This record gives sequence, C-alpha cells and structure tokens, in this order.
Amino acid sequence: MSHNSLLAYVCGLAVVELLTASSWNLSWCAEETAAQSSTVLAAVDQRHSVSLDGEWHVIVDPYGNGLYDSNGKARNNGFARNLAQSDSKGPIEYNFAKSGTLRVPGDWNTQRESLMYYEGPLWYEKDFEYKRTPGKRVFLHVGAANYRAFLWVNGHAICEHEGGFTGFDCEITAALREGNNFAVIAIDSTRLADGVPTLKTDWWNYGGLTREVSLVEVPERFVDEFDLDLKRGTANEIEGWVHVVGAAAGTEVKVVLEKDGQRTSVTGRTDGDGRAQIHLEDGNLQLWSPEHPALYHVKLTAAEDTLEDEMGFRTIETRGTEILLNGRPIFLKGICVHAEAPYRTGRAYSEEDVETLLGWVHELGGNFVRLAHYPHSERMTRLADRLGILVWSEIPVYWAVHFEDPAVLAKAESQLSEMIRRDRDKASVILWSVANETPANPARTTFLKTLVGEVHRQDTSRLVTAALLVRTEGHTKIVDDPLGDVLDVLGTNEYIGWYEGTAADAEQTRWDIRYQKPLIMSEFGGGAKAGMHGDTATRWTEEFQANIYEHQLVMLNHIPQLRGMSPWLLMDFRSPLRLLPGIQDDYNRKGLISESGQKKKAFFVLQKAYKENTVGHTQQ
Ligand code: GCU
Repeated sequence: MSHNSLLAYVCGLAVVELLTASSWNLSWCAEETAAQSSTVLAAVDQRHSVSLDGEWHVIVDPYGNGLYDSNGKARNNGFARNLAQSDSKGPIEYNFAKSGTLRVPGDWNTQRESLMYYEGPLWYEKDFEYKRTPGKRVFLHVGAANYRAFLWVNGHAICEHEGGFTGFDCEITAALREGNNFAVIAIDSTRLADGVPTLKTDWWNYGGLTREVSLVEVPERFVDEFDLDLKRGTANEIEGWVHVVGAAAGTEVKVVLEKDGQRTSVTGRTDGDGRAQIHLEDGNLQLWSPEHPALYHVKLTAAEDTLEDEMGFRTIETRGTEILLNGRPIFLKGICVHAEAPYRTGRAYSEEDVETLLGWVHELGGNFVRLAHYPHSERMTRLADRLGILVWSEIPVYWAVHFEDPAVLAKAESQLSEMIRRDRDKASVILWSVANETPANPARTTFLKTLVGEVHRQDTSRLVTAALLVRTEGHTKIVDDPLGDVLDVLGTNEYIGWYEGTAADAEQTRWDIRYQKPLIMSEFGGGAKAGMHGDTATRWTEEFQANIYEHQLVMLNHIPQLRGMSPWLLMDFRSPLRLLPGIQDDYNRKGLISESGQKKKAFFVLQKAYKENTVGHTQQ
C-alpha cells in the first residue's frame, strides 16, 4: 500500500480526492483533525455580537457523503472545504453558492415540505465579513443545534457538539481572516440509541440550527462564568464567584448592582485559578418573586473585560414538605410547555414565540412552568425572569436511555453542565430536573444519582427534581422510587382518566408517598381535539378533557404534601407517535390550547382553580 493511500486510509479520504488533490498539502489532514471542545460563555446574550442569523445555503446530504469517513468520523476534507471546481482537478460534487437556503434560526422540517420527516445530515454555509480587532478573541456562538453539530471556519475544523437543546461557544480567532470568511456547519439530526434523548420521544425531532448563531468578541482576559446568589436565610447578602479566563492571581474583579438609581458594589481578587470570591451586602435589596420580579442591572469588570447582565435575587429551598421562596412557603401553579411555536409550529425560538407561550401561562393564572423535556431557549428563561414565572428546567434523559453506558452518562452530564452554566443567572429557574419517566432499575438509579450529585456540586442555590413514574396498587399510588432519596423535590406523573381508569377514579385514589419531601404533580391530563364537543364520556371531546381536570383538582387537594402541579400541557405539539387521522394528525392533543391558539374547555377549568386559589396548599 503506497504512502498516499495509507495516509488516505488513516484520514479516511476518498482515494479519488487524494489522487486528484495532489495540490493540497497532506499535512492538512493530520493537522486539522483536532477539533477543540466547546464551552458555554455566561450571559453571552448580553455581550456585543455580530449576528449570523438569516438565510444560509444548505445541502441535504442523506448519506453524510460530504461529512463522514468510512469509520463514521467527521472528516475535514469533505464539504467542509467549500471547494470550487477551480480549486481541484477532481470532480467537486457540491456547491453551496448554487444551493438553496434555509432560515437560521429555525428547524428545517417546517421550512420545506420535503424536509418535514427528514432526519440525517444537512449542511449550512454562510459567508461573512470580519474586521479583526487587535487584542480580541472571537467565539462562534450557537444557541442550539439538533442533534450533532460539526463546525468549520474557512475550512478549519473548529469544534463538534452533541445535544440538541443547549447552546455552545467555540473559539475561532485563529481561523479568522481579514475580510471575507465562511462558516460551514454540518448538523446531523439522526436519532442515536446511545443518544440523550434516545431513539423514541413523544416530540418531533426538529433538526437544524434551531436557535441564534453569532460571532462574539471578548478581550484576551474575560469573564466566562460567574455565580451570584442571595444567601439562604438572608435578605441582603449576595455571595458567589466570578471566573476570569487568562487572569493572573490577584486580578481585581468589581461587581456593581444597580436598580432605580441605587448602586451597591464590591470588589474581589482572583485566585490562582482565575476565580474571585464575591460577598456583597445591600440593605435595600429588592427580592425577586412572581409578585415582584425585581431585576438588577449587574456589571462585572475584570482586567479589560466588562460583562453586564439583568438578574434577580431570591432564595429557594425546602423545609420538610414545604418549598420556600425567600423563606416563605409557596405553591407552584404551573403547566408543562413544549418548545413548539404557537401558530406557525416548529421549534420555538423567537421573542414572539415565548411571549405568546408565557402570556398564556399568565392568562391561566399560573406562576410556574415545567419546560419539557429539554432546556428551552434563553429567551424563555429571560422572559420568565421579567414576568415573574418560576421555571423547572430539564435535560432530555427521557424514557429508556442507555443507563448502563458510561458514554451516555458523560453526554447527560455535559448537557446538564451546559444547561446550568447558561441559566445559573436566572432567578426564575428554581428547579433542575435530571430525568422524565425512567424505569426504576439499579443502572438507571445509579446513573441519575450521579447526575443529582453533579447538580448539587455545580449549583448549591437551586433544587433538584425529576419526573418519576409511580407504582399503582388498586386505588393507591405509591411513590417509593429509590431516586426519591436524593431528590430535593419529587415530581410524579400520572394519567388517571386517560391511560388508566376513569376520570372519577382520581377521587378514589390515595397517594402513599414514602418521602417527607415536597411533591409536584409534574404531569396529568388527557387529549381533546379543539372544537370537538360531546358528553364527558366521549374521548377526544373538550368535555372529556375538562372532566379529567375537574376530578384531578379534587384529588390533588387531598395530597397533603402537594406543593405544585404542572398538567400536561399548555399547547398541542407535533409528535411522531400521534397518528389518529382527523384528531391527532401528528399532534399530541393534550394541550389546553391548540397549536392555532384555540382554548379548550379544560383551560378555563384550570384557570378558575388558579385564579381563585382553590387548589393546593403551601404547607401541611
Ligand atoms: C408522558 C411523557 C410526555 C408525553 C405524555 C403523553 O408522560 O412524559 O412526554 O407526551 O406522557 O403521553 O402525552
């Protein structure tokens, strides 16, 4: 085997390309395989950035011909090179400039009928101008890319990312050139058995660059992460840390809080790891709550960097079976929400999408949302901060994930860290959820206990939960999942009146909860086709759904340690599991509102209970 074909084999080059591309220096292959790992820059949406949103050229590549080598590894010498025929003696069989476009942000499924069911590799390419600023580092920020993403700039491998719902940032400073540049991003939405989530989900696998893409400039030394929390048991002490990349020990960090013309500031100094501990006291601190979602303008300065943010300060903790917000018991009047865009459908991402969804939560009289089953866009948690809506945020460890596989645990841990890093500055986020409806076997419990430990290590200011399955014996629901041992708050899903029994059975149901902890009924409900009417015994009618809610509300009020609820769910959403013609038509119909905004009867049943506070107790 000649040297070239050996190298071709090693680099997975198609032999044809090697033979014809003799003009390329072969070291390119060896040098370029090392894509760096991505990071998450805190409060990146507050930083100065150049948006790359808009139309991107795309190539649908069902076999990953331009992406993977014979070992299924991403290769650098495929479409990533964005070659023109004039660059090569051999045939170039793709051309971004002559290819159609798709809008970014946006899933590809709802932008082209031919892509509605498409799962696989798809390429994005965008040319952009860049004027270098001395002393600046540049990151390519991606708000979310479902499911695996491979990034190149000017043909240079930049980074790879797995996970469809968490943002990431990759440094491109070295790859950039003055003037015209091009970014190529390959997205592969293929579902993986060892993925997170795994193969089967009750939501549509919307693929693509589903959230914003931008260039973010930072100085050589910059704040990449910080944590500032109101100290539990106090109403005026903020404590935390600020991490400065590239800072020598002793670098000064200044934190300023400003609101209504009041300013409080404090300084700290970085240690050998670039981290400065912060302790600030403000006697007039306004605490964040649903009734008073007070946000402070926070300014962090360190070395030549300034990072600004809008933050609220509150404490959240448990005391026995109570959930305490700012030291006072609270009841979470909630609803589950999928990131499905109202009216236009597809993956939600815009300000309008989140305003409509959270606007409906307020109309419902709710103070809480369970963002299912994956981290939603940062626009959602920012708006929840402004509107005073409490948030349950979750990673898609959903149903039968491969719990015995350490590589899958690593993927879940990385999504967990990315979720926490992005939203640790959001007062609205009070609960991190590590899983939904997972089978209570030992491998799973070990897996999830590891995640719970990780959350407690990374964020001591919030509560950890999960949506658990419950055992049923006769008319008794038993909550004894071993994971309950390590959760701060229990979440339980049940579908009395829909998947099991009749709606009225709810009132006969006794709850045997084996943990003295707060419980949130994290899912219940039933389906209805908006506008379909009949008696309460006729499935799919609004009356049938409303009847389930009526009986559930009675049952819920008989659960002494119930501290919150999030029925399934706010709005109908697209799902590949829901195929009943004329009723479901690819939609899960358990919403209280249809995807076109039609409110169903059950919406008003729940609204009445929330507005009149006839459901739930804050304490035993
Ligand atoms: C499950 C699951 C949801 C699903 C719902 C349903 O409990 O958590 O993702 O959509 O039930 O069956 O409608």
